[in-house]
Amino acid sequence: MADTGSTPNALPREILPGVRVCRDADAVAHAAARQFVEWAWQFIARDGKFTVALSGGHTPRELYRLLATPEYRAQVDWARVQLFWGDERPVPPDSPDSNYGMVRRELLLKAPIPPQNVHRMEAERSSIGRAAHDYEEVLREFLALDERGFPRFHLILLGMGLDGHTASIFPGSRIPRQTSRWVSTPIVAKLGTRRMTLTLPVLDAAMRVLFLVVGPDKADILQRVLEGNADPPYPSQLVRPRDGTRHFIIDEAAASKLIPTGTMR
Ligand code: 6PG
Repeated sequence: MADTGSTPNALPREILPGVRVCRDADAVAHAAARQFVEWAWQFIARDGKFTVALSGGHTPRELYRLLATPEYRAQVDWARVQLFWGDERPVPPDSPDSNYGMVRRELLLKAPIPPQNVHRMEAERSSIGRAAHDYEEVLREFLALDERGFPRFHLILLGMGLDGHTASIFPGSRIPRQTSRWVSTPIVAKLGTRRMTLTLPVLDAAMRVLFLVVGPDKADILQRVLEGNADPPYPSQLVRPRDGTRHFIIDEAAASKLIPTGTMR
């Protein structure tokens, strides 16, 4: 695998279209933070705001922590950033399992983001279905719609599970690919719980989609998602922005099974 530099700030190397490899998880977080800052400038300059759906799980935690450091915090006009979530677990915001709670601890408590710019999914509500409808109304208030009537985020951050799930769209999920819903509340049988999640058409309406994937345990699924032709496709494979771009920032360990462009197979 190509040399990806010795410092966290070493430039990632593009090994496949839209797929950039960094040395390790720390370098991935730095590359993602630089990318976040660049897109924030670009979209705030063009649209006066930067609308972002954040992902949960472990992988983006370091990115959120970095964005709160003086090095990056001062580079973003946080008053013009609107934060949303791509998915959430049915737990209270102060739960250790809460995606909102994680971002609050790592970023919201440390960066000057106006509270009115933070739009969490209230997936712990007794009627999660009602909460999903209410969240669609929040999206309607802050986001422009694309030609198909779906809300367009400037950026949607995504992770990838070992089973190829992304956001809370899991393999075998009963969320139809062509749903008209913006927010869905699937039962995730393998977790024995419900989740709240943006739907695929909303992920595909985004201007920028950024997957962060790190670690040796993700190498297999990442290879299948990027190079395989699973049938049915993995949810992560189905994310194809209609009028935007899909990006991956990954580390060497996760990239270990990928074959760089131009390499003899
Ligand atoms: C969640 C996430 C989920 C996550 C993947 C990868 O709520 O769990 O949004 O889609 O991105 O499960 O998680 P890790 O980063 O922890 O591997």
